[in-house]
Amino acid sequence: MEILERYRTEIVSALEAIVPEAGILRQLTGYPLGLVEAGGVLGPGIGGKLLRPSLVCFACEALAGDLQEALPLAAAIELVHTFSLVHDDIVDGDRVRRGRPTAWVVLGDHQAIHAGDGLLALAFHTAAQAEILGGGAACAVASLAAATVAMVEGQARDLELEGRHAGTELYLEMARGKTGALLGSALELGAIAARRPDLARAHRGVGELLGVAFQVRDDWLGLWGEPSEFGKEVGADLVRGKRSFPIAWALERDPSFSTLLKEGSLDEARARLARLGADEATAEQSDRLLAEAEERARELPWPNGARAAFGDLCRGLATRVR
Ligand code: IPE
Ligand code: IPE
Ligand code: MG
Ligand code: MG
Repeated sequence: MEILERYRTEIVSALEAIVPEAGILRQLTGYPLGLVEAGGVLGPGIGGKLLRPSLVCFACEALAGDLQEALPLAAAIELVHTFSLVHDDIVDGDRVRRGRPTAWVVLGDHQAIHAGDGLLALAFHTAAQAEILGGGAACAVASLAAATVAMVEGQARDLELEGRHAGTELYLEMARGKTGALLGSALELGAIAARRPDLARAHRGVGELLGVAFQVRDDWLGLWGEPSEFGKEVGADLVRGKRSFPIAWALERDPSFSTLLKEGSLDEARARLARLGADEATAEQSDRLLAEAEERARELPWPNGARAAFGDLCRGLATRVR
């Protein structure tokens, strides 16, 4: 997945320059990014895979745009993503992210809410200041705002589905919001930075497919992943009654499964899911969506090298372990 390495140094520098240099907001916004540790000492460094900002830079370059114009938008979308993770971990009650204690565990949930708020405000401040000729910055802010609204709605639906009888159709609708929207915006922002607003919508469509596939793979890892590689707890979705893809798929086939989810152990539930074929069905679903994203990307006017790099990313995401 060379796309994830190609722009990393530039994106990291852009993010480091945005986080306040001192004060309480440095502590709060710097912790989830990995720049500082609790108590203010130097952190391990930016911890995420930087998938969304890498896609912004990649699409901009694939359309012969200037990487320097993409970088503020790349940083902005990573800040929105990090905001979503900080609030998501509070809501999901998760204690580990990127191999470290989550923000609410270290900062307390009240200050973690402020950390998320600060990241979101910094994101929009950064996007609004991007210098793109021809009204590009306003288009970029509009794309990011629309995606953030859709993501928050998806997050609210995710919570609403907890413990309920939900099948794969409801799941996929929810995932299009919570994860598809931001990945759609990532490729769209690349087109905007390259001053190709005419191609924004087509890029968004490809990113949305990629995003849903990414979430389905994440759900697979949430049950059968290796915690030390994944950097998050495994099994937490089951314990909370989350309707992740494998569970929604299993509930569609065997509604009695919901009793086991409430009363059985984690190992029992995992074994029964595997007997039903939910692990293979989940892998097949993410493979199918990733192949569809790669196919749809053929309609975009990218050079062959970009097409090949995107194909490599899609195949890498299908088997990712973190
Ligand atoms: C995690 O996203 C949240 C989901 C949408 C599944 P990533 O897996 O991109 O998280 P980081 O940024 O690499 O930690
Ligand atoms: C991912 O949420 C989507 C957002 C944070 C918007 P999840 O709850 O499914 O993902 P993880 O497993 O906590 O990263
Ligand atoms: Mg979560
Ligand atoms: Mg969640």
